[in-house]
Amino acid sequence: MKGVILAGGTGSRLYPLTKIINKHLLPVGNVPMICHGIEKFRDAGIEEILIVIGKHSAGLFTELLGSGKEWGVRITYKIQEEAGGIAQALSLAEPIMKTGERFVVLLGDNLFEDSLTPYVQAFHRQTEGARVLLKKVHDPTRYGVPILKDDRIESIEEKPAQPKSDYCVTGIYMYDSGVFDVIRAIKPSTRGELEITDVNNVYSAKGQLAYDILDGWWTDAGTFHSLYQACGRVLNEE
Ligand code: DAU
Repeated sequence: MKGVILAGGTGSRLYPLTKIINKHLLPVGNVPMICHGIEKFRDAGIEEILIVIGKHSAGLFTELLGSGKEWGVRITYKIQEEAGGIAQALSLAEPIMKTGERFVVLLGDNLFEDSLTPYVQAFHRQTEGARVLLKKVHDPTRYGVPILKDDRIESIEEKPAQPKSDYCVTGIYMYDSGVFDVIRAIKPSTRGELEITDVNNVYSAKGQLAYDILDGWWTDAGTFHSLYQACGRVLNEE
């Protein structure tokens, strides 16, 4: 199975740090943020990794990671010309996937404790559709929030003012290559981006969006507070 890490975007909530360096190269613990996702993939046996980056700091990614050899993985890169949304960044993975091939996607600013292995195994056993990982949070309005029905997600609301559950859809997603047709069919949101929540809602409408709930800690690192929290958690873990 291949892995995709999405590390484009503008990182505007971390300005001015992100004026001089891409968010995913900021330190989290003893390594740049992007390295945590690479380690999670490698530890789950996912050694072929595509990283989608923006033009900003592109050379620094290759300087840090090169071919991935030092990290025990094989890395290729794609450039997302503009921050057109998470689903648009994901669409750049299409040329490397075979028809019917299944793969795992991580948002580069998501940090978490759990091994990916049991969740990837569950996706292997799943006969159709997509799978996402959830986490209970105290501030769901910041995230995609799922409405749950038994072992499926009924729908997801992106950053709702009145969340219908205490869960957040984390940036850990599993798809088959059918996702690229789904991305082609969705329209940009009011903020002008192709939203991953709209993609996931196509699967949920068909009753094909399965989920697991992460056991360990999870955080994104997209704001100053969550970046600080991510550093603390990673360092305490070591
Ligand atoms: O962290 C989980 C949340 O991530 C989910 O709960 C939301 O449903 C999902 O929309 C997303 O929300 P954010 O507002 O936190 O997404 P953000 O714009 O911060 O982008 C997250 C990552 O996605 C970022 O680290 C890089 C990547 N990205 C983002 C955009 C907009 C790209 O690679 N390209 C892009 O154009």
